[in-house]
Amino acid sequence: MSTTAKATARAGSNIAFIKYWGVADASLNLPLNNSISMTLGDLYTTTTVEWDPDSPLNADTLQIDGAAATGSKAERVSRHLDRVAQLAGIDRPPARVASHNNFPMASGIASSASAFAALSVAAAAALGLHLDTRALSALARKGSGSASRSLFGGYVEWERGCDDASSIAHPLQPADHWALIDLVAVVSTAEKTVSSASGHTLAHTSPLNTARIASLDRALAQVRSALATRNLAELGPAIEQDALAMHAVMMTSSPSLLYWQPATLAILQAVRRWRANEGLPVYFTIDAGPNVHLICEPAAAAAVSSRLQQLDGVQAVLSSGPGAGTTLIQEALF
Ligand code: DP6
Repeated sequence: MSTTAKATARAGSNIAFIKYWGVADASLNLPLNNSISMTLGDLYTTTTVEWDPDSPLNADTLQIDGAAATGSKAERVSRHLDRVAQLAGIDRPPARVASHNNFPMASGIASSASAFAALSVAAAAALGLHLDTRALSALARKGSGSASRSLFGGYVEWERGCDDASSIAHPLQPADHWALIDLVAVVSTAEKTVSSASGHTLAHTSPLNTARIASLDRALAQVRSALATRNLAELGPAIEQDALAMHAVMMTSSPSLLYWQPATLAILQAVRRWRANEGLPVYFTIDAGPNVHLICEPAAAAAVSSRLQQLDGVQAVLSSGPGAGTTLIQEALF
């Protein structure tokens, strides 16, 4: 490489309806189970990568949301850049990476999903490495499991697979198939004390893990069918059940992971009250954090959002519909 090469990609975060929780192979990020998610069009990460053989520092540099990032975050990005260079079969030069999230990081809104999807696409393009979406999905998965799904737009399933090439995501339905809304009730923006990456290695220590995994073929089929027929009354109970099952596994792992805050539980109870007393069609799901994602159709979104904002402990409400998969864009961050 004689000249610098730069590319910028944008990737939406995603919210899982059937969760990825637990690894079968931690080095390749092969999951214990298939998962299904909606790619979020309005909560996204933009990442610019420049491979720079003439870098005076002779080391990678990483900026996240305008601030220099070091330590384990920077090392995780550098390891991912190593994977991209390895695929290209080159001895890699240092890279300059800048990343911007339009939502708060590390608060249960999956920033690692959009971050590693955008990083994979930008880093490969900047090297002139042409990978199809299957290869990009496998690459993104090794950075962050859920990133394998953010490669694609709309509603997406990640096949557990059995090796590096087969553990990849594919689209189930396009974004314009169903305008679901994800209203994210932000209860805390603090960085989580246990990352999903270490949590995934604990799942097997819970006595409930085997029971959850055994129930998933049915739950996955229910979610696929509800998505195909745009049936919220079929989708909602399946996503609530799996979010609670995943948190039951987390709570009963050794050591135990307890992500909920008092406001988390208050929101779950409020959602059930709004459904039972007012017939408001809204369902919840929760990732590895205290924030609650409320899933509804556009007709109910204003009523859900205004009720949420009146609950104690809700600091903000973010909103997103389904969006496109990861794409290269022209506007670079530097
Ligand atoms: C609870 O793939 O984000 O959000 O990148 O290692 O932190 P790390 O893991 P990640 O785990 C996602 C866990 C989840 C469920 C899901 O998105 O499927």
